Amino acid sequence: MDALAMEFADDTFDLVWACESGEHMPDKKKYVEEMTRVLAPGGNMVIACWCQREETAERPLTDDDKARLQFLYDEWAHPFFISIQEFCRLMEGTGKMEAVGAEDWTPQTLPSWRHSNLVGVLDPWFVMFKWNPKLWYKVTREIVTLERMHRAFDMGLMEYGLMRGVKAAKPAGGAAAAAAAGGERRQQQEQQQAAGAAV
Ligand SMILES: C[S@@+](CC[C@H](N)C(=O)[O-])C[C@H]1O[C@@H](n2cnc3c(N)ncnc32)[C@H](O)[C@@H]1O
Repeated sequence: MDALAMEFADDTFDLVWACESGEHMPDKKKYVEEMTRVLAPGGNMVIACWCQREETAERPLTDDDKARLQFLYDEWAHPFFISIQEFCRLMEGTGKMEAVGAEDWTPQTLPSWRHSNLVGVLDPWFVMFKWNPKLWYKVTREIVTLERMHRAFDMGLMEYGLMRGVKAAKPAGGAAAAAAAGGERRQQQEQQQAAGAAV
Protein backbone atom coordinates (compact mmCIF):
# COMPACT_ATOMS: atom_id res chain seq x y z
CA MET A 1 0.00 0.00 0.00
CA ASP A 2 1.26 3.47 -0.80
CA ALA A 3 2.28 5.13 2.48
CA LEU A 4 1.27 8.49 0.99
CA ALA A 5 -2.33 7.36 0.37
CA MET A 6 -3.14 4.61 2.84
CA GLU A 7 -6.49 2.84 2.66
CA PHE A 8 -6.90 2.68 6.45
CA ALA A 9 -9.64 4.70 8.15
CA ASP A 10 -8.80 7.73 10.31
CA ASP A 11 -7.85 7.12 13.97
CA THR A 12 -7.27 3.37 13.52
CA PHE A 13 -3.98 2.36 15.21
CA ASP A 14 -2.61 2.72 18.76
CA LEU A 15 0.93 2.70 17.35
CA VAL A 16 2.23 3.80 13.98
CA TRP A 17 5.89 3.23 13.28
CA ALA A 18 8.07 3.69 10.24
CA CYS A 19 11.50 2.16 9.72
CA GLU A 20 13.76 3.65 7.05
CA SER A 21 11.06 4.38 4.50
CA GLY A 22 10.76 8.17 4.81
CA GLU A 23 14.02 8.52 2.89
CA HIS A 24 12.17 7.37 -0.23
CA MET A 25 9.12 9.59 0.12
CA PRO A 26 8.93 12.43 -2.41
CA ASP A 27 6.46 14.24 -0.11
CA LYS A 28 7.63 14.09 3.52
CA LYS A 29 4.78 16.33 4.73
CA LYS A 30 2.15 14.00 3.28
CA TYR A 31 4.04 11.02 4.73
CA VAL A 32 3.82 12.45 8.26
CA GLU A 33 0.23 13.62 7.77
CA GLU A 34 -0.90 10.17 6.57
CA MET A 35 0.68 8.45 9.58
CA THR A 36 -0.94 11.04 11.87
CA ARG A 37 -4.32 10.50 10.21
CA VAL A 38 -4.40 6.72 10.80
CA LEU A 39 -3.05 7.07 14.37
CA ALA A 40 -5.73 6.89 17.08
CA PRO A 41 -5.96 9.82 19.55
CA GLY A 42 -3.57 9.12 22.41
CA GLY A 43 -1.54 6.77 20.19
CA ASN A 44 2.22 6.84 19.66
CA MET A 45 4.16 7.51 16.49
CA VAL A 46 7.80 6.54 15.98
CA ILE A 47 9.80 7.25 12.84
CA ALA A 48 13.31 5.97 12.22
CA CYS A 49 14.85 7.66 9.21
CA TRP A 50 18.17 8.61 7.65
CA CYS A 51 18.31 12.39 7.81
CA GLN A 52 20.71 15.02 6.57
CA ARG A 53 21.96 17.62 8.99
CA GLU A 54 19.96 20.80 9.37
CA GLU A 55 21.19 23.56 7.09
CA THR A 56 21.42 26.91 8.87
CA ALA A 57 22.67 30.36 7.94
CA GLU A 58 25.67 29.79 10.24
CA ARG A 59 26.33 26.34 8.81
CA PRO A 60 25.19 26.12 5.19
CA LEU A 61 25.75 22.99 3.15
CA THR A 62 28.99 23.32 1.17
CA ASP A 63 29.37 22.28 -2.47
CA ASP A 64 31.20 19.20 -1.23
CA ASP A 65 28.31 18.35 1.15
CA LYS A 66 25.82 18.76 -1.70
CA ALA A 67 27.82 16.52 -4.03
CA ARG A 68 28.06 13.83 -1.33
CA LEU A 69 24.31 14.01 -0.72
CA GLN A 70 23.53 13.91 -4.44
CA PHE A 71 25.53 10.70 -4.75
CA LEU A 72 23.47 9.14 -1.94
CA TYR A 73 20.19 10.38 -3.44
CA ASP A 74 21.00 8.98 -6.87
CA GLU A 75 22.50 5.68 -5.88
CA TRP A 76 19.59 4.34 -3.85
CA ALA A 77 16.69 6.24 -5.44
CA HIS A 78 16.15 8.80 -2.70
CA PRO A 79 14.35 11.95 -3.83
CA PHE A 80 15.97 13.91 -0.97
CA PHE A 81 16.53 13.69 2.79
CA ILE A 82 15.36 16.15 5.43
CA SER A 83 16.75 16.99 8.85
CA ILE A 84 15.65 15.59 12.20
CA GLN A 85 14.46 19.08 13.11
CA GLU A 86 12.37 19.29 9.93
CA PHE A 87 10.70 15.97 10.78
CA CYS A 88 9.77 17.39 14.18
CA ARG A 89 8.41 20.55 12.54
CA LEU A 90 6.31 18.42 10.19
CA MET A 91 4.93 16.40 13.11
CA GLU A 92 4.11 19.55 15.07
CA GLY A 93 2.75 21.17 11.89
CA THR A 94 -0.05 18.60 11.70
CA GLY A 95 -1.54 20.41 14.70
CA LYS A 96 -2.39 16.98 16.12
CA MET A 97 0.90 15.67 17.46
CA GLU A 98 2.07 16.43 20.99
CA ALA A 99 5.18 15.60 23.01
CA VAL A 100 7.20 15.61 19.81
CA GLY A 101 10.84 14.75 20.39
CA ALA A 102 13.81 13.24 18.61
CA GLU A 103 17.19 11.69 19.14
CA ASP A 104 20.16 11.21 16.88
CA TRP A 105 21.00 7.51 16.87
CA THR A 106 24.07 7.85 14.65
CA PRO A 107 26.49 6.42 17.28
CA GLN A 108 24.28 3.36 17.76
CA THR A 109 23.78 2.70 14.04
CA LEU A 110 27.13 3.77 12.54
CA PRO A 111 28.75 0.30 12.81
CA SER A 112 26.00 -1.21 10.65
CA TRP A 113 27.30 0.31 7.37
CA ARG A 114 30.71 -1.32 7.53
CA HIS A 115 29.20 -4.41 9.08
CA SER A 116 27.07 -4.79 5.92
CA ASN A 117 30.24 -4.72 3.82
CA LEU A 118 31.97 -7.15 6.19
CA VAL A 119 29.08 -9.59 5.77
CA GLY A 120 29.65 -9.36 2.01
CA VAL A 121 33.34 -10.22 2.49
CA LEU A 122 32.68 -13.09 4.90
CA ASP A 123 29.83 -14.56 2.92
CA PRO A 124 30.41 -13.74 -0.74
CA TRP A 125 29.51 -17.14 -2.14
CA PHE A 126 26.28 -16.25 -3.85
CA VAL A 127 28.28 -13.77 -5.95
CA MET A 128 31.45 -15.85 -6.35
CA PHE A 129 29.70 -18.86 -7.81
CA LYS A 130 27.43 -16.92 -10.09
CA TRP A 131 29.23 -15.52 -13.08
CA ASN A 132 26.93 -12.66 -13.69
CA PRO A 133 28.71 -9.43 -14.65
CA LYS A 134 25.63 -7.38 -13.89
CA LEU A 135 25.47 -8.81 -10.35
CA TRP A 136 29.19 -8.20 -9.79
CA TYR A 137 28.80 -4.63 -10.98
CA LYS A 138 25.79 -4.09 -8.69
CA VAL A 139 27.57 -5.59 -5.66
CA THR A 140 30.65 -3.43 -6.27
CA ARG A 141 28.47 -0.31 -6.41
CA GLU A 142 26.77 -1.36 -3.17
CA ILE A 143 30.15 -1.67 -1.42
CA VAL A 144 31.05 1.87 -2.48
CA THR A 145 27.64 3.26 -1.46
CA LEU A 146 27.71 1.57 1.95
CA GLU A 147 31.15 3.09 2.59
CA ARG A 148 29.97 6.52 1.41
CA MET A 149 26.96 6.22 3.72
CA HIS A 150 29.31 5.39 6.58
CA ARG A 151 31.45 8.43 5.78
CA ALA A 152 28.47 10.80 5.50
CA PHE A 153 27.17 9.72 8.93
CA ASP A 154 30.66 9.73 10.43
CA MET A 155 31.40 13.30 9.28
CA GLY A 156 28.05 14.60 10.58
CA LEU A 157 26.54 15.27 7.17
CA MET A 158 23.94 12.56 7.79
CA GLU A 159 22.17 11.83 11.07
CA TYR A 160 20.07 8.83 12.10
CA GLY A 161 16.78 10.34 13.21
CA LEU A 162 14.53 8.69 15.76
CA MET A 163 11.45 10.89 16.00
CA ARG A 164 8.42 10.31 18.18
CA GLY A 165 5.20 11.93 19.28
CA VAL A 166 1.75 11.29 20.69
CA LYS A 167 -1.49 12.15 18.92
CA ALA A 168 -3.56 14.54 20.98
CA ALA A 169 -6.66 13.05 22.57
CA LYS A 170 -9.94 14.22 21.09
CA PRO A 171 -11.48 17.14 22.98
CA ALA A 172 -14.34 16.14 25.28
CA GLY A 173 -17.71 16.14 23.56
CA GLY A 174 -19.47 13.80 21.14
CA ALA A 175 -18.49 10.12 21.21
CA ALA A 176 -15.58 10.58 23.63
CA ALA A 177 -17.81 12.32 26.21
CA ALA A 178 -20.47 9.62 25.83
CA ALA A 179 -17.86 6.90 26.41
CA ALA A 180 -16.54 8.74 29.47
CA ALA A 181 -20.09 9.15 30.83
CA GLY A 182 -20.72 5.43 30.25
CA GLY A 183 -17.55 4.59 32.19
CA GLU A 184 -18.65 6.83 35.05
CA ARG A 185 -22.09 5.18 35.15
CA ARG A 186 -20.49 1.71 35.23
CA GLN A 187 -18.21 2.80 38.06
CA GLN A 188 -21.21 4.08 40.07
CA GLN A 189 -23.07 0.77 39.53
CA GLU A 190 -19.99 -1.20 40.62
CA GLN A 191 -19.66 0.96 43.73
CA GLN A 192 -23.36 0.43 44.53
CA GLN A 193 -22.99 -3.34 44.04
CA ALA A 194 -19.91 -3.42 46.25
CA ALA A 195 -21.76 -1.41 48.92
CA GLY A 196 -24.69 -3.81 48.62
CA ALA A 197 -22.43 -6.82 49.04
CA ALA A 198 -20.87 -5.24 52.10
CA VAL A 199 -24.32 -4.71 53.61
C1 LIG B 1 15.22 0.91 3.03
S1 LIG B 1 13.76 -0.05 2.76
C2 LIG B 1 13.24 -0.37 4.43
C3 LIG B 1 12.41 -1.59 4.51
C4 LIG B 1 11.99 -1.99 5.94
N1 LIG B 1 11.18 -0.95 6.57
C5 LIG B 1 13.19 -2.31 6.78
O1 LIG B 1 13.52 -1.53 7.69
O2 LIG B 1 13.83 -3.33 6.54
C6 LIG B 1 12.64 1.18 2.18
C7 LIG B 1 11.25 0.64 1.93
O3 LIG B 1 10.37 1.72 1.66
C8 LIG B 1 9.37 1.25 0.78
N2 LIG B 1 8.68 2.36 0.14
C9 LIG B 1 9.19 3.32 -0.66
N3 LIG B 1 8.23 4.18 -1.06
C10 LIG B 1 7.06 3.74 -0.49
C11 LIG B 1 5.70 4.21 -0.51
N4 LIG B 1 5.34 5.30 -1.20
N5 LIG B 1 4.79 3.51 0.21
C12 LIG B 1 5.14 2.43 0.93
N6 LIG B 1 6.40 1.94 0.99
C13 LIG B 1 7.34 2.59 0.28
C14 LIG B 1 10.15 0.38 -0.20
O4 LIG B 1 9.31 -0.53 -0.84
C15 LIG B 1 11.15 -0.30 0.73
O5 LIG B 1 10.65 -1.54 1.17
